Amino acid sequence: MIPVCRTEDLPEGGAVRIEIDAATPAIAVFRSEGALYALDDRCSHQDASLSEGWVEGCQVECPLHAALFDLRTGMPSCLPARRPVRTHEVTEADGMIHVRPAAREPAAREDAYA
Ligand code: FES
Repeated sequence: MIPVCRTEDLPEGGAVRIEIDAATPAIAVFRSEGALYALDDRCSHQDASLSEGWVEGCQVECPLHAALFDLRTGMPSCLPARRPVRTHEVTEADGMIHVRPAAREPAAREDAYA
């Protein structure tokens, strides 16, 4: 698990972006309605940071063209995004939030959503 931030540094409705290494896409960690979620921090439509989007309930709205993504599944619920973003395991314990990056999807699977 990779440390994200202290619990108090991620308020309700907020998001934190973490960069892990050059080989791992940045991850956005969200808190909404008391739950934590983690998604790739790159919209599947174009190059926009979902951590800069707007969180409401179980969705985040992309700040560039307003696609909505389900925070629980990474699935888009409206155009222009058609492909999901990856989700990641996120935990909170002892005053810290941690994330476990998901394995990268094989290229063939990513193409299946195009
Ligand atoms: S970049 Fe996210 S909807 Fe276009």
